[in-house]
Amino acid sequence: MSQVNVTRRYRFCAAHRLHTDHLTPEENRMVFGKCNNSNGHGHNYVVLVTVKSGGVLDLERLDGLVNETIVRRFDHHDLNGDPEFAERTTTGENLVKLIWDLLEPQLPNERLAKVGVIETRDNYFEYAGSAQPTGGSRG
Ligand code: NI
Repeated sequence: MSQVNVTRRYRFCAAHRLHTDHLTPEENRMVFGKCNNSNGHGHNYVVLVTVKSGGVLDLERLDGLVNETIVRRFDHHDLNGDPEFAERTTTGENLVKLIWDLLEPQLPNERLAKVGVIETRDNYFEYAGSAQPTGGSRG
């Protein structure tokens, strides 16, 4: 059986600063580079949501879900102020996983295939859930 996926594109603008109290100021600068700048900075994030096509999920419903759950939550916000980022840094890796975790429970029958986040021209992150070879690959 062939499976076709469909990807929808969404956008939001958000500020962040990469910083952890577990490191010294010098170490933070070394690890996070420009993204550690104490004034913070923003990105025009692009979110690519890939779902398995077919069945009951229509794209209008997907758009509504992503806009409600992701875009409204993050657009023109400071990611560092989001409760989910109280204990983890706002890296692209953590952001793409969080977006997956927020969407996946709301999509029936493991319909979510992949989430991608374009952070800058040259940085792209993607996540397809925690890989489990057999059976339910939830979360
Ligand atoms: Ni940044």
